[in-house]
Amino acid sequence: MAAKLCDHDQSRLLTAAKQAAGRAYCPYSRFRVGAAVLTNRGDIFAGCNVENASYGLTICAERNAVFQAVAASDVESPPELRAVLVYTPTPAPTAPCGACRQVINEFGPDAQVLSVCDGPGMLGATLSDLLPKAFGPANLS
Ligand code: THU
Repeated sequence: MAAKLCDHDQSRLLTAAKQAAGRAYCPYSRFRVGAAVLTNRGDIFAGCNVENASYGLTICAERNAVFQAVAASDVESPPELRAVLVYTPTPAPTAPCGACRQVINEFGPDAQVLSVCDGPGMLGATLSDLLPKAFGPANLS
């Protein structure tokens, strides 16, 4: 079970996710998303959604953030995700889509997932709350 996220790390994640949301490329949906992940090493990586004129090629903010963490890690020690924070400049919080839950599971099956917005509501869950009975690396070993 993951340790609870301290206020300092939550604040670092929120700052990074908000900055990433400001960089979202979303001319089609106009729905900005920023995500930030905290690794077991204490590093933070952020990503935004990047849309495409061929709509299906759009990538979500959460997957972009996870892939940044992987790209910055040694191949021998892939990142372990302690927490993921999703920020949307909306009145209600947004939980990660199903595809992103599956990708987060690969590197953070015990991760805490927080969804923060500009309204008063906030969602807090663990990845296993969001994706119970997940298919993952252990199924292939
Ligand atoms: N989006 C994300 O970035 N993360 C999610 O979890 C849900 C959806 C993006 C994809 C697309 O650019 C826009 O939000 C509308 O679906």
